[in-house]
Amino acid sequence: IAASFGDRVLAGLKVVVSAGPTYEDIDPVRFIGNRSSGKMGFAVAEAAAQAGAQVTLVAGPVSLATPQGVAKRIDVRSAAQMHAAVTEVVAGADIYIGAAAVGDYRPNAVAEHKLKKQNGLDLTLQLAENPDILASLAAQQSHPFLVGFAAETQNVESYARDKLQRKGLDMIAANQVGGGLGFETADNAITLYWADGSAELPRADKAVLARQLIDRIASRYKAVRG
Ligand code: CTP
Ligand code: CA
Repeated sequence: IAASFGDRVLAGLKVVVSAGPTYEDIDPVRFIGNRSSGKMGFAVAEAAAQAGAQVTLVAGPVSLATPQGVAKRIDVRSAAQMHAAVTEVVAGADIYIGAAAVGDYRPNAVAEHKLKKQNGLDLTLQLAENPDILASLAAQQSHPFLVGFAAETQNVESYARDKLQRKGLDMIAANQVGGGLGFETADNAITLYWADGSAELPRADKAVLARQLIDRIASRYKAVRG
């Protein structure tokens, strides 16, 4: 272990972490969601706080307690709400870690009343694309060091490197979903990519992995911005 877990590698830095899924409402009783539990993002927020950062956690709908040491938590439901909250709190932040599984689409309109069955007919939902939070931050003139996540079910490296470039990120943490790893699980395994390098963080408990991830982010941050 290169940098020991006790090191306050993010002392004096402001870090914003997004975590969990988003819910996109269809009508008053239904929504489109995803399988993100928020555990990885919450573990990252806790690890950043342990490393001495002042942490703001923007959380989608999850049933998790606020990790020890996290200075501020903002709960949101939809991608649009997460976008607004992140945009507000990221002003003055040094690092943004986008661990949330942001919904890519939302229903074009939220029905005012519960949708009723149409005796045997198919139902078609029209969906509109949500804004990309990370890409919108990258497009701003002055923005924090940006770390994304990429949960992939195939071609992990090529999809992750493509996202790193396309979204203008400093680093991306990629993991293969499935086989007892990724969403809804206690363990994860991550490969970190940046412009001219990569690092393998083998299968481990999400808390352990989060601390290793924070150590890597801190050293890259210092190399690029320090
Ligand atoms: N992300 C974001 N805003 C969105 C969608 C995704 O900020 N509207 C962020 C996620 O928090 C994550 C990274 O982008 O850090 C990658 O998310 P992912 O879903 O893997 O990438 P997409 O660009 O949405 O591509 P796709 O879902 O088609 O693979
Ligand atoms: Ca997506």
